[in-house]
Amino acid sequence: MGDDATAGSGDDADDETVVRRDRFSGGPAREFLSSLAGDSRIFDADLAVDRAHVVMLAEQGIIDDDVAGEVLGALDDVESAGHGDLPDGEDVHEAIESAVIDCVGPDGGKMHTARSRNDEVATCIRYRLRADLLEAVETTLALRESLLEAAAEHSETVMPGYTHLQPAQPTTVGHYLSSYAAAVGRDTARLLDAYDRTNESPLGGAAFAGTPFDIDRERTAELLGFGRVVENSMDAASARDFLAEATAALAIHATTLSGLAEDIVVFANKGYLDLSDDYSSTSSIMPQKKNPDTLELTRAVAGDATGELTGLLTTLKGLPRAYNRDLQRAHPHTFRAVDAVVEASSIAAGAVATADWNAEVLAAEADAGFATATGIADLLAMAGLPFRTAHEVVALAAEEAEHSDDGVTAAVLDAAAEDVLGESLFEYVDEKSVESALDPAASVASRDSRGGPAAEQVEASIKSAREALAVDGDELAARREQVAAADDALQEAVEAYV
Ligand code: ARG
Repeated sequence: MGDDATAGSGDDADDETVVRRDRFSGGPAREFLSSLAGDSRIFDADLAVDRAHVVMLAEQGIIDDDVAGEVLGALDDVESAGHGDLPDGEDVHEAIESAVIDCVGPDGGKMHTARSRNDEVATCIRYRLRADLLEAVETTLALRESLLEAAAEHSETVMPGYTHLQPAQPTTVGHYLSSYAAAVGRDTARLLDAYDRTNESPLGGAAFAGTPFDIDRERTAELLGFGRVVENSMDAASARDFLAEATAALAIHATTLSGLAEDIVVFANKGYLDLSDDYSSTSSIMPQKKNPDTLELTRAVAGDATGELTGLLTTLKGLPRAYNRDLQRAHPHTFRAVDAVVEASSIAAGAVATADWNAEVLAAEADAGFATATGIADLLAMAGLPFRTAHEVVALAAEEAEHSDDGVTAAVLDAAAEDVLGESLFEYVDEKSVESALDPAASVASRDSRGGPAAEQVEASIKSAREALAVDGDELAARREQVAAADDALQEAVEAYV
């Protein structure tokens, strides 16, 4: 049934307490229409929204205090019985209202004065999503913590760095891991932003067109811990861009996780690190196997989250103003996304925290494939050769080295310099500095530009990342406190009537 008819005479004309809800709900579309099962996720939210609304109605003199007391008492009973005990209904809002009316009698129907299910459901989704987003923020903080801790431990552990998945230049495990701490830091910021725009109250917008009752929207917003009201009543009932924003932030975080997971899978494959058994699986047939399945699943969650975002945006696209039933299928996308991404994020944090990096394998690999070539070119450029000429000398040496067993020695480089420049390499640099530039550890130490892999740069970036992490921890705590304080205030307000 639509919201225009909240109550009417039942089939049993003698019994005024029967609410007429059967006209539109008995046919073959009954299950298709109902969101009741999935609404278990917003059961607690709906109770809070009902309580805040009833308290406000009583404070404004719109309903009598004793009616408010009865309704609030019935809501306590509904809460104790739980979502599973609700009477049948099109959704949780209707079912809770029916349960209240069953308990209190027709006066229970006063609960739905000056509101609609349209502003009610929008408020419930925002209320519930706030908690989910804070949990998502918390998992990103834990992941950053794991990344920074491992980064600090390995600020000087040399490893090969890649572009195009080809060995490119040596770097350190600390530099690699803190690059991901920075990326996840931006994911935290996006989630906090999405939280702040979710944390606005549509309640009192009614169906979309406001109400003639003298309601106090600020008061219900305050009792529910919202930062502000959604001003325009049509916007209040219609807006779901907060879902899109939250889901996008989650999908972006999942995409960050997928890159990290992919690297760890590759690194495990190359023996650069050993995953803890807790984050590995074995094969049902090949007894020697230890597979990085947790990271593969983490990698796949980006597909889930992006799918949910696509489904959500496609549902929202081109909807007419204001409420349309399509919206019932919008928020489940976000709830599924947040569940999957929170799980993947905390798995990634655990895998990173417990992985064992193999410094010897990494150092040997950092030395392979003339990965210090750029360092030699830089050395020649620093000695005054145009970088392009230096690049040519080193490229020729790399090519020659490919065909010799000696690898790139100063001798090979010298021969290449003769070919390109017509003079010896040692006209420009001494042998010792070439040998040093060929050494991965020395190469890393030399790249001490801001944000580079040299240990002091990595240590400085870990320090500032830890400061940013502490600030975000405070941001999370402040939002949790605001919600908890509102919960207490609501409970206190309710107790004045029950
Ligand atoms: N179950 C509905 C939803 O989730 C609640 C709002 C129903 N409103 C309406 N006018 N039919 O969107």
